[in-house]
Order: sequence, then structure tokens, then C-alpha cells
Amino acid sequence: MAWRKILSEDYNLPERVSIFDTTLRDGEQTPGVALTPEEKMEIAIQLDKLGVDVIEAGFPITSRGEWKAVSEICKLGLSAKICALARCEKNDIDVAVDAGVEWVHVFLATSDIHLKHKLRMTREQALEKISEAIEYAKSRGVIVHYSAEDATRTGYDFLMRALKTAADTGADSLDIPDTVGFAVPTAIRRIVSSAKRLTGKPIAVHCHDDMGLAVANSLSAVEAGAEIIHATVNGIGERAGNASLEEIVVALHTLYGVKTGINLQEIYKTSKLVAKLTGVWIPKNKAIVGENAFAHESGIHVHGILGSPETYEPIAPGLVGRRRKIVVGKHSGIHSIDFLLKEHGLYMDRAKAKEVLEKVKSLGDMGVRVPDAELKTIAEEVIGKSKGNRLISLKELEVTSNTNGATARISLEIGDEIVTAMSLGHSPAIASLSALMNAISSKMNVKLIDFRIDATSYSPDLTCEAEVVLTIDDSSEFVGEAVGHDPAFVIITAVIAGIERAMLYSVGGGAT
Ligand code: KIV
Ligand code: ZN
Repeated sequence: MAWRKILSEDYNLPERVSIFDTTLRDGEQTPGVALTPEEKMEIAIQLDKLGVDVIEAGFPITSRGEWKAVSEICKLGLSAKICALARCEKNDIDVAVDAGVEWVHVFLATSDIHLKHKLRMTREQALEKISEAIEYAKSRGVIVHYSAEDATRTGYDFLMRALKTAADTGADSLDIPDTVGFAVPTAIRRIVSSAKRLTGKPIAVHCHDDMGLAVANSLSAVEAGAEIIHATVNGIGERAGNASLEEIVVALHTLYGVKTGINLQEIYKTSKLVAKLTGVWIPKNKAIVGENAFAHESGIHVHGILGSPETYEPIAPGLVGRRRKIVVGKHSGIHSIDFLLKEHGLYMDRAKAKEVLEKVKSLGDMGVRVPDAELKTIAEEVIGKSKGNRLISLKELEVTSNTNGATARISLEIGDEIVTAMSLGHSPAIASLSALMNAISSKMNVKLIDFRIDATSYSPDLTCEAEVVLTIDDSSEFVGEAVGHDPAFVIITAVIAGIERAMLYSVGGGAT
């Protein structure tokens, strides 16, 4: 709550704001995204655990599957209120209400651009349609949330008339959508304050990120007294997306001292689920949920972090369900090397550690990233320890694939035993991973909690990187990483690195 005291000199900050999550509606409108009803239900359950106040589950008039998804979500008995989108049309409203929602979100554009080119309506006709729709929706016994689509490109006076009309006809709350991300924080502050004063209703904002201002605009709405903020997980949505739920919530919590119902620890899990099911991957540098959001490479930063994490971390990673990552590369210093080698159970004098650092830096100068498994190999070479001392080594991997899938056969040396296993999979990497897990399961109880394989370059010299999270005997979670050219080898190397790290710590009693 760094700024609450200072902000309170100028603004009347609320104690709490409600989060209206539209991941399943506007988020699903991300070009190229389509979710099945089952996937929407899985996300809705996680959003409920996350603690959002309202889940906009979909736009039921658009398809049978969409109606089914909304209706099944309504039957889940979640704590969040379930809402559906409807145009200001009786049929849309009926279809939404019949799906079983408690809230209906009706919208009609108010800007001249939309009235003229899309709706072909006069302003007066628009006002009439807004009031008819709201009266009708209220008569069906639901909570009505009205959005003046394209509000921020609507003439100021007419926008206020539209919002007043909606309020007077019974809308329970009013939303100001920045439909094409055209607003700036000062304008949003003004619109929200006027709308609140004029209507006396709870005010929401729905900001798009076309100019990269969605979060800033949403926060300035809170400064002006907005009670409801529309947002999507990972900021997915039409075009450049919507305001990111995780960014808004963490900023409110940390910088503004304004509460939400969000359980911050569920943020990362929710983000990963949404990325997985929508196929919209999270940029590495994205705030809060990006892979690098809590990763440190440069020597000065790692030195600071090891002294006290708050030197270079605005929040503790655990607050949002994440962990810190120390990465080595050309910017590293000796402290990173010392720290990571100790994590691998490798102890060496300063001169040798510096030799490892020099090797890491020269690989970095050649543009090569050095993941965990590679750092360990470099260090072992420097101290003259043979790779034969590895707890697990890959002896053989044979993969065949065709258009129907792949078969992998793997041979591992675990301790002084050779273990062999096979598996099928829909791709060579997945078949290899599951053959590896079959082989390992005969010797130890390893659970793969999560994994990802990314292609990091699109040149013919394709580079892949993999990261896995695993447990042994339901211990705490350990991470393994690897980089290389072949996805099958890369994922296997990452799992072996994770297992070795976990085994080392279960013997040595260290931490992840
Ligand atoms: O961006 C927008 O204006 C919308 C409305 C339906 C609220 O998504
Ligand atoms: Zn929108």
C-alpha cells in the first residue's frame, strides 16, 4: 500500500473494489481462441478459487455451445455471481436469463461512430432501446449491468444522458467501456466521477489495451471511485486485449492499499491454466505472470537479491504463487555462480567458480543461454568430475514417428542399474517424456506437476527450451531446465535435471 496515504490527499480511495472477470467472454473473443464448454467450466472453477466477484461466462446468443457453457457454469454452485452478455434485444436477454445467470450484462453503443455506421440509429432511438432492454431484463428478475459501448468516443453530454437513462430505468450498475483503448487516465477519472455523481449507481470500467493503457485507465477509475473493474486473466481479449486482472489486482493490493476478493496465491495457477486452454502464451516479460517477472540474471541484481530480495523485487514471488529464479548468462557475477552451484551440490573454490563464470560468459557472448543442466555440466568439467557420477544418465533414446504419432524407447542408468521402457505419444517429445516417466516409475515416485517446451528461435537452427516442475515422494516442488535442438532430448534432460536436484536436496535437506 505504498501510495495510499499520498493518494488519499487527492482521492477518496475505496476500501475494496469488485472484480468482474470477463476472461470467458471478452477473453474468449481473442482472435483465434475458442473454448469448449468443458474448458470454460474448468476456467470458471479456477476463477472462483481465485476469488473474482463476477464471472462473465459468455455471450449465450452466439452459439449452442456457448449457451451450454454458460448454463453448465451456472449449475456449478460457485460463490462468484455468474453473468452473461446480451445486446439490448429481448431475445438475447431471454436466452441469457434462460441459461440460469444471476446477472445480465446488456450493452448498446453510444458513440456517433457506432450509431451511424453499425447500429444505424439516432441518439434518441438509442436511448429508447437502452431503457426498453433494461426494463425488460429487470422484469425477468436478474441483476442488470449496462455498458455504453464505445463510451470513451461518445460525446460527453450524450454519454451522461445514456448512463442516466440506464440508471433511471433500473440498471443496477453502469459500465464505461473504453472499447478501442482510446482513453487516457485523466479522462477516465473525469468520466467516472461525473457518472457517479449523476447516477448514484455503482460504476464499472472495461478497458482495452490498444494503447497499452488498460491497466493505468482502470486504476485511475478506482481513484475516481469506480466500484467494479472488468478484467481478464493475462489481459487476453479483442485485438490488444483487455486490462490484465493480475496487474490490476496486485497494483491495488501493493500500491494503492485497496482490497479485492482475490486470493493472490492463486494468480499464477490461474494464469497458466488460461494460457494452456486458450493457447495464448504469456510474454516472458509480462508483469506478475511472465516467466521473467521474478528472474534475475545480472550480477549486481543477483548480489542484491541474495542480500535481501526486496532490493530488486517489488513483491515476494510467493505472494502470487511463484518462485524466484536465478539465471546465469553473460551478465552474471560470481554470486550467481556460487549460489547455483551450491544448489546443485557442487562445492569449489573461488578460482574454479570464476572459471565456470568465464565459460558461462563466453557462451553468453556467442548468444547461448545456459540452463541448469548445462551449468552443472560446465561445473563438473571444471572440477574434473566425470559425468559418470550422475545419479541418472540417459543411455539410449530411440524415437520413431509418423502422421499417427510417435513411439519412444528409452534406456537409463539409474544408480548402477539399466532400466528400459517404451511409450506411445502424439509427438516424439511427448512419447519420449512418457517413456522416461515409465522407466523412472519403476525406481522412484516422481510426479510431473508441470512442464513446458518452447521453441526459442524460428531459424533452421531451431532451439528449444524446457522447464519442468516435479516432486519425488510428494516432497516440495523442484524445477529442472534444459536447452537444445531436439525437443525430445531437451524435455528428458530437463526432467533428469529436476530429479537430480530433488534427490540431492532430499539427501542434503536443502530447499528448492
Ligand atoms: O469492449 C467493449 O465495449 C465490450 C462491451 C460488450 C462491454 O466488450
Ligand atoms: Zn471489450
